[in-house]
Amino acid sequence: MSSGLAELHDRARAVLDPVHYDYYAGGVGEEVVLGENEAAFRRLALLPRVLRGSTARDLAVDLPGARLAVPVLVAPTAFHRLAHPEGERATARAAAAAGTVLVSGMASTVAVDEVVAAARGVDPDAAVWFQLYPQPDEEVTACLVRRAERAGCAALVVTADSPVFGRHRRDAEHGFHDLPPGLAAENMRDLPGGPPGGTRDIEMSPSISWEHLDRLRASTALPVWLKGVLHPADAVLAVGHGVDGIVVSNHGGRQCDLVPAAVEALPAVVDAVAGRVPVLLDGGVRGGGDVAVALALGAAAVGVGRPVLWGLAAAGEAGVARVLELLRDEFDHVLALCGGRGVGDLTRDLVVVRGTGVG
Ligand code: FNR
Repeated sequence: MSSGLAELHDRARAVLDPVHYDYYAGGVGEEVVLGENEAAFRRLALLPRVLRGSTARDLAVDLPGARLAVPVLVAPTAFHRLAHPEGERATARAAAAAGTVLVSGMASTVAVDEVVAAARGVDPDAAVWFQLYPQPDEEVTACLVRRAERAGCAALVVTADSPVFGRHRRDAEHGFHDLPPGLAAENMRDLPGGPPGGTRDIEMSPSISWEHLDRLRASTALPVWLKGVLHPADAVLAVGHGVDGIVVSNHGGRQCDLVPAAVEALPAVVDAVAGRVPVLLDGGVRGGGDVAVALALGAAAVGVGRPVLWGLAAAGEAGVARVLELLRDEFDHVLALCGGRGVGDLTRDLVVVRGTGVG
């Protein structure tokens, strides 16, 4: 982890309730994948090009649903008000100020319309995307989509890697199942079948299928990203089903503890997609060098989950701003060292496996 991020992590750990720290930090099962996501980046090295200098570099990326000033966006994570009273509002402001996207979680402790308003308060053109767990009751899913559209979200991110909840040992050991009094998953309020004025529980959908995705896509004009793809065959299917983009992700090691590190699954997905839609990556990105490696392997941009939570817990909006600024600054520096003028100069031949020297 870059030293600036490590410092924020340590501060977050010091201020957070240990139960909530473990909720954020933990993974599924033996936490093999949690560790591998970061370790896999350390097994990769960059092979720079020389004598290609330029004084300024262009870090911007155009994606369906947003133009990012920097190829780093905020991955959807739940329950930001466990980290800071301002919760997702603070995260949204910091992301907007950095010129990037917050993927607002369905399990947000601030309702999505307020999240979008917070981002737009900083930058009227700020883009917020909405992450969706399709619910077993499709009427509920439809209401959530309408809610995101009305709030002004610019894309939907459909999480596909969670047909069932991951089993998190740290949470089980702490008996952490519910939010503390006063906090709720605010997007789940006033939905069909829920208590009047109260919130419905978020459910997983074990029977979710490509037909659900088709119906969802047909129900909205928003770009749809599919998050949680690891198998290249699923990437091909996703393109065939008309998604606008794919997020290679293992949910930060929180769903299945048997899968590869996210960055290891990336190249095969990029090859299978063959440029038809952009591919994002999240999981284990802890510095600007990791961003550069992921882009060189074909990601259009990366998402960061936990580092944003550490920034938020450590210092609210300013802490998230610091995380995004550190990543931007480090990435720009690495891009310069690699002889890149823009993100397109990061190509796969720049990545080799440490200890072997070959790609
Ligand atoms: C997540 N993630 C997640 N993903 C999603 O689609 N919906 C969600 O509600 C959540 N919630 C969530 C909570 C917490 C505490 C964490 C740490 C993660 C997964 C997230 O979007 C992303 O895939 C990972 O966080 C990326 O890995 P890193 O950056 O945390 O290593």
